[in-house]
Amino acid sequence: MERFYQEELTCLHIIAHRGASAYAPENTFAAFEKAVELGADFIELDIQITKDGKLAVIHDDKVDRTTNGTGFVREYTMNELEQLDAGSWFGPEYQGEKIPSLEAVLRKYHNKTGLLIEIKSSKTQPGIEKAAGQLISRYGRSMNTIVQSFDAGAMRAFHHMYPSIQTAVLIRPRFGLLPRGRLRQIASFAQYVSLKATMISRLKSWKIDGIITDYPDYF
Ligand code: G3P
Ligand code: CA
Repeated sequence: MERFYQEELTCLHIIAHRGASAYAPENTFAAFEKAVELGADFIELDIQITKDGKLAVIHDDKVDRTTNGTGFVREYTMNELEQLDAGSWFGPEYQGEKIPSLEAVLRKYHNKTGLLIEIKSSKTQPGIEKAAGQLISRYGRSMNTIVQSFDAGAMRAFHHMYPSIQTAVLIRPRFGLLPRGRLRQIASFAQYVSLKATMISRLKSWKIDGIITDYPDYF
């Protein structure tokens, strides 16, 4: 993750990807607690909107890969999602881990660690930016929270609705670097870009603020 502005940085932040997801089932409290235990500065997590307009912390738009349920997240209420087992797929010792709500995560971690919240599929989930912004705002604007998405349009809209919440755009340029003009556009509504580590060798002059990793203890 890289910042646009040339500010002096005190340290490189370690960001636990979907929690410490190499050690515990991704996007669960087990993975988030492990990330905190390993000293991560931020927890990265993914959100999807539910049938009843709540925000669930889960990467895929379907529950199949990471729970014992089937079907789209948006076809479940938050309460129904919380009945699923989100841990057994990773290991029997995690049986009973739940899909957390974003609200529960904010309540538990908002004054404890940084949060990097990724909005998934905003086009198929109208209202997800607003729901996220409202919830984050409830937990105070001074906390260390960044909202990110691959959808730059969604981040522009989010920034206009909630200018005091920091934003990042995930970029995955297919050929070479993103044009400078495009980066300037992104800089008008986002404070960071997130990109794959394999691109860093081509961007040595950029200041890097954080490393997003499944292994927060590795660094
Ligand atoms: O923050 C980078 C990363 O989370 C984006 O990819 O698929 O793991 O959500 P993904
Ligand atoms: Ca993510």
